[in-house]
Amino acid sequence: MKRIGILTSGGDCQGLNATIRAVAKSLYHYYENDIEIYGIIDGYRGLIYGEYRLMKPDDFSGILTRGGTILGTSRQPFKLMRVVDENSVDKVAAMKANYRKLKLDCLVILGGNGTQKTANLLSEEGLNVVSLPKTIDNDLWGTDMTFGFQSAVDIATNVIDCIHTTATSHGRVFIIEVMGHKVGWLTLYAGIAGGADVILIPEIPYDIKSVIKTVKQRNESGKNFSILAVAEGAITKELAAMPKKQRKAAVAEMAYPSISYKIAHEIEQATGQETRVTVPGHFQRGGSPCPYDRVLSTRFGTKAAELIINKQYGNMVALVNNKVVFVPLKDIAGKLKSVPADSELIHTAKMMGITFGE
Ligand code: F6P
Repeated sequence: MKRIGILTSGGDCQGLNATIRAVAKSLYHYYENDIEIYGIIDGYRGLIYGEYRLMKPDDFSGILTRGGTILGTSRQPFKLMRVVDENSVDKVAAMKANYRKLKLDCLVILGGNGTQKTANLLSEEGLNVVSLPKTIDNDLWGTDMTFGFQSAVDIATNVIDCIHTTATSHGRVFIIEVMGHKVGWLTLYAGIAGGADVILIPEIPYDIKSVIKTVKQRNESGKNFSILAVAEGAITKELAAMPKKQRKAAVAEMAYPSISYKIAHEIEQATGQETRVTVPGHFQRGGSPCPYDRVLSTRFGTKAAELIINKQYGNMVALVNNKVVFVPLKDIAGKLKSVPADSELIHTAKMMGITFGE
């Protein structure tokens, strides 16, 4: 009897259930009645504290289009994994003990950057692990694409489209704040897809004077509105030049709910033009996966099942050059995939006259 555990960890996103479904259906198809799948509740928290349930094939039916995760999730920071909790529980030892107690052959882990680091840690600790790349940020090293990203691009683009009509009708400047504290993939894609005039991402620190200049030039050329797609983690050149600790303190002291409100205030002061902010926030992670993500999740999930069947543990499923492959966890864990300065997409955007506030 094969025994598999499966968990989802970190922020939820579209395509988690579609991926879980693909893993489970492929395994039931291959092993027939000779397999038990245990759903670990709320990510690593369930593995630490022994919360899980034996799943039935029916649990995986009807979930292809469902948002969120049927298993629940939680954030368990990697940096605290080696720190005993308030009840003196050694988390790593507890996870290993529960894995052994359940007599698992493999643990399937769906998650983003922090999750992959812990997956690698568990693999180094001797557990059989197969992981899958989840996040709307698309910032996982080793894969060209994560599931959830395209669905979030669709939503963020739709927000920009809707705001566009109001911006033109009222002759306003609008800032759409897109998710992404560390990387700007989502903002870049949605910004280009939504026809933004300015795109600000963490990888390219901005100068507010340059942003204001773009808005003024548009006004002078007869365009009475401007659309800015701004990543949550957009940062000024001055802040980017500071040492990390000082920068964090400066950001924490900012007198605005987020960077977009500061930029809006500065534009309004300099141009006199009404400037508004729209923050779609967690809307971007919610609802049904788009068809692209449903297909990607299904490809990823079936690949994970193949890795389990072939006992190829210690790997993350990935998409490289449009082929589903697998990469060793030890090679990708802890590495961030940022937007490269020489990215073709940045070049494309610049060719279109989109400015990055440089
Ligand atoms: O990593 C996914 C993500 O949605 C980021 O884009 C965002 O900055 C963060 O999670 C928000 O986290 P939380 O849901 O914990 O507020």
